[in-house]
Amino acid sequence: MRHAIDYGTRELNREAAAMAKYQHNGAGPILEVRDLRTHFMTRQGLVRAVNGVSFELEKGETLGLVGESGSGKTITCLSILRLLPRGGQVVGGEIILEGQDILKTSEDEMGRLRGKKVGMILQNSMAALDPVFSIGTQIAEPLVAHQGLPWKRALAGAIDLLRMVKINDPEVRVRNYPHELSGGMRQRSSSAASIGPHPDVLIADEPTTALDVTTQRQYLDLLKELQKATGMAIIFITHDISIVGNLCDKLAVFYGGLVVEYGSKDQVLNNPSHPYTKALLKALPILGEKRERLQTIPGEPPHAGNLPPACPFHPRCEQAMDNCKEGDAPPIFDLGYGHQARCWLLEKDDEQYSR
Ligand SMILES: Nc1ncnc2c1ncn2[C@@H]1O[C@H](COP(=O)(O)OP(=O)(O)OP(=O)(O)O)[C@@H](O)[C@H]1O
Ligand SMILES: [Mg+2]
Repeated sequence: MRHAIDYGTRELNREAAAMAKYQHNGAGPILEVRDLRTHFMTRQGLVRAVNGVSFELEKGETLGLVGESGSGKTITCLSILRLLPRGGQVVGGEIILEGQDILKTSEDEMGRLRGKKVGMILQNSMAALDPVFSIGTQIAEPLVAHQGLPWKRALAGAIDLLRMVKINDPEVRVRNYPHELSGGMRQRSSSAASIGPHPDVLIADEPTTALDVTTQRQYLDLLKELQKATGMAIIFITHDISIVGNLCDKLAVFYGGLVVEYGSKDQVLNNPSHPYTKALLKALPILGEKRERLQTIPGEPPHAGNLPPACPFHPRCEQAMDNCKEGDAPPIFDLGYGHQARCWLLEKDDEQYSR
C-alpha cells in the first residue's frame, strides 16, 4: 500500500526526537535533511534552487545525488555546509548532523564543524586548490585548524595523506603548486585535504567529471578504500547515473530542486518508479548490448528561476496527467522498504489509498 508522506506533521518535535535518539544509543542516521528549501533573491527575481529535499545518511554509507544540471544537487550540499553563494538562503526545513541542528548552529561553531565533521570536495578541484600555496600547505592547514597539530607534524601528515591517495613521490609533490600537477593528481590532492581531518561525512561534488575513464575508475576505487579505512559516510554527486552502481548504497534522484525518487541503489536502478528516473536509465548505454540509438530525454531541464508549476517534470513527461500540471508538486509516495517517489502515477495503482 502506498502512502503520501506528509513531512509537515513529522516536523513536530523532530529536534527533540533526534537528540533523544543520539542520547539513547548513539545509533540512527549521522545526517538527516528534512524538507530543505533554499532560494536565491536575484535581480531577475526569485530562484527556487531547492524545494523540499529530504534524505538520510547512515555512518559508513554512500548516498548518490543524481540529476541533470541545475537540479539543485550542489546547492543542497552547500546548504548543509552553510556555505551558500551570495543571495542564497535556507528558507525552510532542517539539517540534523549527529543530532545537532545545523541551521541553528552559531557561525563560530559552524566553522569548527566544517572540515572536521563534514568535508567537501568541490565540483571544480582546480578552483578548490589555491594557486599561490603549495599542495602540502593546503593539506596541512586543515590538520592544524581541526586537529591542533603543530605545523611540522601537519606537513608530515600531508605527506602521509598524499601517499594514502596514491600520489607517487609524496615528499616531492608536497612542495608542488597546483599547476604543476595533472588533473587526476589535483583531484587526489584536494581529496587528501578534505579527508585529512577525518570528517564523519564527506561530500564529493562531481569529483570525476574532469578525469578520463581509467583515472575516474581508480579515483572511485580510492574513495571506497578511504571509506573502508575511515568509516566516513559519503554523499557523491554526479550527472552520470552509470557510475553510481558500484559506489553507492542509496540514491536520490534530483529534478527541479526536488528529490523525485529515493531508495536503495537496487530499488532505484532495478525498479525505477518515477518517469524521470526511467528516462535517465533509458539514456544509458548498456555494456555489451547493441542499441540502435540511445534515447535522450526530450526537452531541457528547467531553470530554478522559472520552474514549471506542480510537477517540475511534467513538460517533458510522456505520461503527464492534468493534476501533474496544476497545484502543488506531487507528494512523496512510499513504495515500501524505504523506496519513495514523487509521482501521481503511483497513486493510481493504489486503490486503498485515500488522502
Ligand atoms: N549563486 C546563485 N545565484 C542564483 N541562482 C543560483 C546560484 N547558484 C545556483 N543557482 C541556481 O540554483 C539551481 C540549482 O543549482 P545547483 O548548482 O545546485 O545545480 P546542480 O544540480 O549542482 O547542477 P550541476 O550538475 O550543473 O552542477 C540552478 O538553477 C542554478 O541556476
Ligand atoms: Mg553542481
